[in-house]
Order: sequence, then structure tokens, then C-alpha cells
Amino acid sequence: MNADSYLPYHQSWLEDDEINEVVDTLKSGWLTTGPKTKSFEEAFKNYIGSKHAIGLNSCTAGLHMSLAVQEFEPGDEVLVPPITFPATVNVVVHQNLKPVFVDVEPDTLNLDATKLEEKISPRTRAIIPVHFAGHACDMDAIDAVAQKHKLCVIEDAAHAIETRYKGRKVGTLGSLASFSFYATKNITTGEGGMLTTDDDDLAEKIRVMRLHGLSRDAWKRYGKSGFAHWQLHAPGFKYNMSDINASLGIHQLKKVDRFLEIRKRYAARYNEAFGELEEVEPLAVRDYTDPAYHIYVLILKLERLTLTRDEFLNAMQEAGIGMAVHFTSLHLQPYFKERFNSHIEPLPNAAHCSNRIVSLPLYPKMTPADVERVISTATALIKKHRA
Ligand SMILES: Cc1ncc(COP(=O)(O)O)c(C=O)c1O
Repeated sequence: MNADSYLPYHQSWLEDDEINEVVDTLKSGWLTTGPKTKSFEEAFKNYIGSKHAIGLNSCTAGLHMSLAVQEFEPGDEVLVPPITFPATVNVVVHQNLKPVFVDVEPDTLNLDATKLEEKISPRTRAIIPVHFAGHACDMDAIDAVAQKHKLCVIEDAAHAIETRYKGRKVGTLGSLASFSFYATKNITTGEGGMLTTDDDDLAEKIRVMRLHGLSRDAWKRYGKSGFAHWQLHAPGFKYNMSDINASLGIHQLKKVDRFLEIRKRYAARYNEAFGELEEVEPLAVRDYTDPAYHIYVLILKLERLTLTRDEFLNAMQEAGIGMAVHFTSLHLQPYFKERFNSHIEPLPNAAHCSNRIVSLPLYPKMTPADVERVISTATALIKKHRA
């Protein structure tokens, strides 16, 4: 990428093997959930080390069903971090449950396990830790609170396909976990998700719920083994993965470690360059996590700068560098303010970082020269606006 061209915030890396697999699926005549989804599920299960992996059309679908299969009552409460994508919390509302925001740690922006107890009420039923930016939450601490209060732990692993916690893979640390293969994720199927669990009963329920609540999926219904009626066991959802999407996933997964090595190298280079600047703070990496390096976040110390976060974003974009924000704190979003009065909650760390964070491009399709261009552009901007 030359110095004058636009460097997008993200670009997926797809090669001939993904393209050929999609063509093979199209030619096969079977496009929806079928053998390719099964093969991707098998490979993903082995990669994560979970007992079950269930292919879905999004991570949101997995989070939603993780709540829908529980025996919760309307108005029961679910503990969630405010620094996350709306999907994590929207699904709580969809199930007529009440989201209760728990503050994040100021330097990792992950759910602060030490703040869980004070938010627990007789109606608390579950915790959804989000492994933000691909850094694992402190799952032992979260699990201790969950066990004490008999809460279900559902991992939002949208950012965390490669993430490990104390050597263990994310996706095996709670009761259920949901992964995303959305277009900007570390591996992609365009749109897609995967739910992992070690619980046979929950897995069976999710398999049924992902396809309307029918007892048999279409692939089996239309197979050679004689006509089979389905039965409807529950009002399920239309959340199944298609074989077209799975065709991408099968090959993307084979590349996940190669991609991770490149991301890791680029993140280390960013850390080295930005670690020298007093005006910005990269996310802290706890010693218990091997991160997936999904998003590279800088926290701007606005007190040391003469520009706002949005001025920083605009200046970077004008210089040809695609930028993003992960995330404006959800407790400050109009919907949660109006419906749950969330803005009056004391969530000082989430409120503080919400207008200070920026995400820089970080993906394997970038070249080392692209990384240096991001560094020199951001560094020049910061130096020019020192307070
Ligand atoms: C933390 C988090 N959770 C959930 C999701 C939803 O993922 P999907 O688009 O696959 O539904 C996202 C998407 O970006 C996310 O960032």
C-alpha cells in the first residue's frame, strides 16, 4: 500500500482455497446447513477443545440462544460489561431479562471481577464476560463468584478465537461460549458464528433451537434414509449456518495460527512505538492471557493533548488511515439510558475510557510498511498536539 492510498480499517484475507471450496459447494447443489457446516464444526471443536461446536449464522445468535435455553424468568438479571458491542446486551433484553452493567478494569477494559459481588441481587442468574479485543477476562475470579451465587457463565468470545487463559482455550471456560466470524473478525465466513459447550443437554437444545425448534435438520430430512417427519419441540430461531459460509470457515481456520503470528508481530511493533509516548496508553496484557490480538486499542490521555478523541479519529482518516472505536460505553447509549437509567450507574472506568479510546488497523493483510505508516501518522499527530 503506498503512502498516499487509503489503508482500510480492515480487509479480510481470502485465497483460492476458500474460493474453490465455495464453488464446490455451489456446484454440489446443497447450499444450507449440511456436510460443509459439519466439517467446519468438527474442525472448530478440535481447535477449541470443546465437546460440542454448533455452526450458526452469527455470534449474536449464539448469545441469544445461550440465554433462551436457560430456565430464567422475565426480569431476572444478567451481569454484563458496558464496553462491548450492543449484541452482547441486546440479547438480554430480547429474552425479557434485565442487563446490569458491571464496570471494566481501567487498563484492559475487561469486566472487573472484583466489582461483580456488589451488583448481585436475588434475581441475578448469569454473567456474560466479553474477552475484549481478544484479551481473556480473569475467568477464575469470575467463576468463583458464579459458583458462590449459582450463576451461569456465558463467554462472549466474539474477539477471542485464538485466546488462551492460563493456557486453556477460551470457549471451554464457562457453560457456553459464542464466537463470531463476522467480516472483520480474525477469521471470517462473511457472516457466521459458532457456539461451543461441554454440556450434552445444552448442545442438544441449541441444535434444535437453531433451526426453528425442529427435531431434525433439513440435511437429514432430505437424505436417503427414508422419509422422516420432524416435530416441533419449542418456538426456535432461524440461526443455522449455511454450507456456503462454512466453506470459507473450513479454510480460514487452517490459517488461524499463521494470521495470529502476523497480528502478534504487528501488535508488538505498535506497543514498542506507542509505549514511548506519554500521551497514549496501549491496553495492558495480563500475564494470565495469550491474547488473540483482535483489536489494537489506544487510550488517549486527553489531559496531555490539545485535540479531542474525535478530532484524532478525523485527522487519522484524513491522512488515509481507517479507524474505529470499540466501543462507546453502552450505559451511555440512548436506549439503555432511557429504558434502564443506566447513565446514573457509577461506572467510572467505562465512562472515562468511552470518549478516549481509538482502534488502529491490525490485520494480517497489512504489510509491515502499512504498520509503520500508521505509527508515523499517529505519532506525528500526537506530537503536534502535545498540551
Ligand atoms: C463483543 C462482541 N460480541 C458480539 C458480537 C456479535 O457478533 P456477530 O456479528 O457475529 O453477531 C460482536 C460483533 O462485532 C462483538 O464485537
